[in-house]
Amino acid sequence: MSSSKIIVITGASGGLGRALTQLHLKKGDLVIATSRSEHTLEAFAKQLSHPDNLCIYPLDVSSNEAVRQFAAWVHVRFGKCDLLYNNAGTAVFESLVQMRLEELEETLLTNIAGVMYTTRAFLPMMLQENRGHIINIASLAGQVATAKAAVYAASKAAVIRFSEGLRHELADTGVHVTCALPGPIDTPFLERADKTGAYRSKVNSYLLSPDQTATLIYKAVERKRPEVAMPFRLHALSFLYSLLPYKVKQLVAPLINRK
Ligand SMILES: NC(=O)c1ccc[n+]([C@@H]2O[C@H](COP(=O)([O-])OP(=O)(O)OC[C@H]3O[C@@H](n4cnc5c(N)ncnc54)[C@H](OP(=O)(O)O)[C@@H]3O)[C@@H](O)[C@H]2O)c1
Repeated sequence: MSSSKIIVITGASGGLGRALTQLHLKKGDLVIATSRSEHTLEAFAKQLSHPDNLCIYPLDVSSNEAVRQFAAWVHVRFGKCDLLYNNAGTAVFESLVQMRLEELEETLLTNIAGVMYTTRAFLPMMLQENRGHIINIASLAGQVATAKAAVYAASKAAVIRFSEGLRHELADTGVHVTCALPGPIDTPFLERADKTGAYRSKVNSYLLSPDQTATLIYKAVERKRPEVAMPFRLHALSFLYSLLPYKVKQLVAPLINRK
């Protein structure tokens, strides 16, 4: 069994996944970085100054069988998983009827089923050791849903509730669960979700950098915090909004519908 910490990150070829990978590599951890595109992971690995502790593995989290085989491979090769970041995610900011069925299914399979499949595949390894930490990347969108993000918001709300229930299930074990709720992050995700670029420009003043987000998440992991939301200003506004009566919510709707 490896003496380094073993960190598994899904969606590691994207903005936040890369930042989390770099953060852990700098700490001397061994990072297993996964995403569907092996080519993108290889290109990322080439850019790193110290890629020795990096392992890449092509993985589609929406396939339970692929996830199961991946977890078995990690178990045989490294014997453990200290931190699992369920970070892979996708979005299409479009109204429900305009969204293609494949887009809807991909969002649900990646953002909800993918998180559950991966957690389910890695938990036995963690429970065997009676230690480990699962970090689920949700979103502030899981707290407040807006037009053109009903499906994405629902998927992230599911991740928040899943994390909460899992935390109860694991209360008497040494396995921890942190759910991260970031606001908009400056990653390729924004352009992919809204090709017009309108959403990105509307949330420009709230944009977090991937490095900033990764650092805030990691601090919460170190403190074993159950939940972490960022940036503070947007989180506070989301929280206050969630307390409003429905009629008042209708009045302020034009202010929050940015997509
Ligand atoms: N950017 C934001 O504004 C924002 C805000 C709040 C929360 N988040 C959440 O933060 C997480 C990371 O997002 P990001 O901004 O870094 O997005 P990103 O740059 O688009 O990266 C997404 C990553 O997920 C991977 N991925 C997508 N579908 C996958 C699948 N089925 N199986 C495996 N990997 C898959 C992508 O790689 P491949 O295409 O190669 O698979 C990529 O590595 C997501 O869960 C997202 O919902 C983002």
